[in-house]
Amino acid sequence: MNRDANIVQFSAQYSIGGCPSLYFRLFDLDPDLLPLFKYNCKTFSTPQECLSSPEFLEHIRKVMLVIDAAVTHLENLHCLEDYLSNLGRKHQAVGVKVESFEAVGDSLLYMLEKCHGPAFKMNVREAWIKLYSTVVKAMSCGWKV
Ligand code: HEM
Repeated sequence: MNRDANIVQFSAQYSIGGCPSLYFRLFDLDPDLLPLFKYNCKTFSTPQECLSSPEFLEHIRKVMLVIDAAVTHLENLHCLEDYLSNLGRKHQAVGVKVESFEAVGDSLLYMLEKCHGPAFKMNVREAWIKLYSTVVKAMSCGWKV
C-alpha cells in the first residue's frame, strides 16, 4: 500500500488511548461482543460496566497500538503479517468471529468522523477503509478451519 499522508496525519492525533466513543459505538453495532470481553472469568452485565473497566480500556489501547503499527509500516505491511496472523488466531481462541471485525472497522470510522468532523473527507475515509481491511485480512489468515 502506498504511504498516504492523510492517514499519517490523522493517526498521530488519535493514536494511544484512542477515543472511548469507538467502543460505545461497537456495542451499539454488535451487543453480542460484550460477553467476549471477560477478565478473570468475569463477564460484564452492561456495556457501561465494561467500558469503565481498566482491562477493557487497556484493550482499546492495544487495538490502537496495532492500528498505529500498521500506519507506521504502511509501505511495508507484509512485515506485520506473522504478528497479525497470530493475533487473529488468539482472537479466534477467545470466540471472536472474523465478521465481528467489521463492527470494529465501522466504529473506527465513526470515531474518526466524530473526532475530525468535516476535515475527515471521502479520500481519507477510503484510505482508512483500505488500511483497516488490510489489517483484518492479515488477522483472518490466522483463522483455523
Ligand atoms: C486481546 C477481544 C478486536 C487487538 C484480546 C483479548 C480479548 C479480545 C478477549 C484478550 C484479553 C485482552 O488482552 O484484553 C476482542 C474482541 C474484538 C477484538 C471481542 C472485536 C471483534 C481487536 C482488534 C484488534 C485487537 C480489531 C487490533 C486491530 C488485540 C491485541 C490483544 C487483544 C493486540 C493482545 C494480544 C496478546 O496478548 O498478545 N482481544 N478483540 N483486538 N486484542 Fe482484541
